[in-house]
Amino acid sequence: MWARRASAISSPESNADPIGPSGLSLTGERVSDPLTKEEIRGLVAGYAQAAADAKRLGFDAVEIHGAHGYLIDQFFWENTNKRDDEYGGDIVGRTRFGVEVIEAVRAAVGPDFPIIFRFSQWKPVDYNAKLAPTPEALERFLAPLSAAGVDIFHCSTRRFWEPEFEGSDLNLAGWTKQLTGKPTITVGSVGLDSEFTSLFAEGKGADNVGLDALVERLARGEFDLVAVGRALLNDPSWASKIREDRAGELRAFTREALGSLS
Ligand SMILES: Cc1cc2nc3c(=O)[nH]c(=O)nc-3n(C[C@H](O)[C@H](O)[C@H](O)COP(=O)(O)O)c2cc1C
Repeated sequence: MWARRASAISSPESNADPIGPSGLSLTGERVSDPLTKEEIRGLVAGYAQAAADAKRLGFDAVEIHGAHGYLIDQFFWENTNKRDDEYGGDIVGRTRFGVEVIEAVRAAVGPDFPIIFRFSQWKPVDYNAKLAPTPEALERFLAPLSAAGVDIFHCSTRRFWEPEFEGSDLNLAGWTKQLTGKPTITVGSVGLDSEFTSLFAEGKGADNVGLDALVERLARGEFDLVAVGRALLNDPSWASKIREDRAGELRAFTREALGSLS
């Protein structure tokens, strides 16, 4: 028995005990009992309360994190969801927890408050993991989430320029937009590329790379928004320099920058 787990759910201060759909860690070890349905109901209500609080405090939107092996993604992934009730099973059954969270958040924030939903195929323990190995599977996975009330999908990839499936240049955000008709956010190493680290290994700095292709894909409508992490930390004027066609003025990445951002 993992008796302390219930207190971890009800008390935010006590987060030492892991929880999960089947009580498995991302690497497959048993770390707790599977969540009970009552606990699941409590968690769904917790997401809704958090979203309502965010709205009340003046935020403009909420983003529900269903990526990277966090709780919602643990329900999505067959390796961490071995449940035989309605929260498990095939790819559609495994979306049920996420769907309930989205529906509860929508009910809490009302029809006009934007809900962004972040998901990923990759997991921290397996960069090559695929929730959906084909476009057809991705469509089955996304349809219930979209219908539940998502306004924008944030499609997390580690390298935005990599095609998601063979036979098309579309990345995950491109496919998601095409399959759901909803706006999407792309992300992943914007301004960086695989040359980036090797240039540092050779003792050189690195320039921002791949931005023309990014802007061209954005203009073409493959995706609608771009999330930028490290490049923005390196140059806080990143967005205005791109918008004003001044990419040549972006700060080069220095050795110090790489040390703190990689
Ligand atoms: C050093 C580092 C740590 C990160 N840690 C997390 C994390 O703890 N949780 C998470 O969801 N994403 C994490 N990410 C991924 C970010 O959420 C985000 O996708 C990424 O940083 C944004 O893109 P970019 O920095 O590649 O432009 C991390 C990224 C980096 C570079």
